Amino acid sequence: MNKPIFKYETASSFIDKEAFLPYKEKSVEALKLLEAGTGKGNDFLGWLNLPEEYGAEEFKRVIAASERIRENSEALVVIGIGGSYLGARAAIEFLQGNMHNIKKSNNPKIFFAGNSISSDYHYELLEILEDMDFSINVISKSGTTTEPAIAFRLFKDLLYKKYGAEEAKKRIFVTTDKEKGALLNLAKEEGYERFTIADDIGGRFSVLTSVGLLPIAVSGANLLDLYEGAVAAMNDLRVKDFDKNFALQYAAVRNYFYDNGKAIEILVNYEPSLMYFAEWYKQLFAESHGKEGKGIFPASLNFSSDLHSLGQFVQDGTRNMFETVITIKNPNNNITINEDKENVDGLNFLAGKTMDFVNTKAFLGTFLAHTDGKTPNLIIEIEKRDEFNLGYLFYFFEITCAIDGYMLDVNPFDQPGVEEYKKNMFALLGKPGYEDMKEALEKRL
Ligand code: PA5
Repeated sequence: MNKPIFKYETASSFIDKEAFLPYKEKSVEALKLLEAGTGKGNDFLGWLNLPEEYGAEEFKRVIAASERIRENSEALVVIGIGGSYLGARAAIEFLQGNMHNIKKSNNPKIFFAGNSISSDYHYELLEILEDMDFSINVISKSGTTTEPAIAFRLFKDLLYKKYGAEEAKKRIFVTTDKEKGALLNLAKEEGYERFTIADDIGGRFSVLTSVGLLPIAVSGANLLDLYEGAVAAMNDLRVKDFDKNFALQYAAVRNYFYDNGKAIEILVNYEPSLMYFAEWYKQLFAESHGKEGKGIFPASLNFSSDLHSLGQFVQDGTRNMFETVITIKNPNNNITINEDKENVDGLNFLAGKTMDFVNTKAFLGTFLAHTDGKTPNLIIEIEKRDEFNLGYLFYFFEITCAIDGYMLDVNPFDQPGVEEYKKNMFALLGKPGYEDMKEALEKRL
């Protein structure tokens, strides 16, 4: 099984070898600190050994629940936001492509809800579901987040109307904290099947727990292969040898670039199926590093589409960014460009070549152009879009993020900024208990 490869030699002209040396050492020290469990946020390290420690019982229950859903439902509505949403969506689109709900398939359709407060979006989805057999997986660690709570109320109501209380209860799966939260209370009261989010795993590090696993399994993915990839990554990326550990290398280069004026990282893909993987990456790094006035701003671009818009800026605009490009060596399906007798479009020079051949040349041409334009390019190369590679990538990005966070000297595992917004929204909505805050906020508006 070929594993993902990280290359930073591609950006060597932007790295001063001497100046880079301390970053190598610092990355190894950061990994040691992470493993010692004595660094900042050390009560949120449950993800670190998860690939080897995830409970077999919970894993079996996830698979059993996914099989039931696959048997009795044409659709699964996954309700959640942020870390309780993006991992599952990233995985499903990575593996099944972003046409997963339209293409011919025996898999249930997977719809996402509660990741916005859009009445139009939810209205349309409720309409679609009227004619479909469906189940719900509602995911919220705190069990109190407004967006998913509203969506759950709406979709639960439809489910109860459609099937009656007894059957509806069998179609609701709740993933939440084991001890607290409104969602937990509701689940207990109504007797919904429950999955637990461990106390020591934050939302953005939870994709390999039941948070991500249940929707991913319902979509038809093989969880064992996903875990095999994560275990392989865990074995490779805990090695304290800089030259052998891609996570140390990626963290060190990011940190070096940051200290040398590169304030933005763009995660680039050449496959639309990776768009949500990039969304997951953005949350992971933004919430982990963006604090105390520090951090690289994580962005993403979808090429070649964005080469015709934002590509201009990357080539020639403010020189404060670097790109990390994910390339996929082999597409799951190949299309060969056909010969045309008339050749009016002048494309016969490509006849017989695959679209992927053209995509690869677009990548190589862009890599050279952007490098010439002084935007360094790092490369992550994966063999193909499958569960093994995805499991590997999830762990690779998580551990890189943690190592780099320690190099940056922040707590990579809290998200005080997100909590600020949530509290303000509760207050402005008039949630009981927030009366004083409401008054103070309203005075400022
Ligand atoms: O990473 C995080 O902690 C956040 O993005 C949360 O996942 C998000 O706010 C949703 O929170 P919850 O799962 O408590 O509903």
